[in-house]
Amino acid sequence: MAKLNIIYFSGTGNTEQMATYIEEGAKSAGVEVEMISVDSADENSVEADFLAFGSPATGSEEVAPEIADFVESVKDKLKGKKIGVFGSYDWGEGDWLSMWIQDLDKEDISVVGEGCMVNLSPDDDEKVEACKEYGKAIVS
Ligand SMILES: Cc1cc2nc3c(=O)[nH]c(=O)nc-3n(C[C@H](O)[C@H](O)[C@H](O)COP(=O)(O)O)c2cc1C
Repeated sequence: MAKLNIIYFSGTGNTEQMATYIEEGAKSAGVEVEMISVDSADENSVEADFLAFGSPATGSEEVAPEIADFVESVKDKLKGKKIGVFGSYDWGEGDWLSMWIQDLDKEDISVVGEGCMVNLSPDDDEKVEACKEYGKAIVS
């Protein structure tokens, strides 16, 4: 069975909650999913058919350093894989996510669609659906 590993950092749980819905979407498409908090991730964590990286907007429209450092450490293993990026934000407009996608693109790492972002927690049907659909898109 094909496998998706979701590697994420979440300070207050919103990005983690998104990850659970992305997991649900991918599972509904018949894919095995492993959720990995970035502090327990290592280079073996990227040995999957599909990957998703999750980070909230932090600093000033920045990816959480925990995730940025991890991705940097494994970037040579990411080329050619199908990769999703997602995360929660509050007052911004999602610049952290679009800049993240651009930075990955410069490393020849291409991301599925425009990523997936949710304002604060995925607490309504529309946000939940967006996460599930993105999970499906990563593995389709
Ligand atoms: C130190 C810090 C910096 C933040 N910077 C931004 C930001 O630049 N843009 C934004 O939209 N939200 C920003 N936020 C809001 C978080 O992205 C938002 O609260 C998000 O839901 C947190 O997700 P999490 O629960 O997965 O940690 C910031 C929050 C903190 C604590």
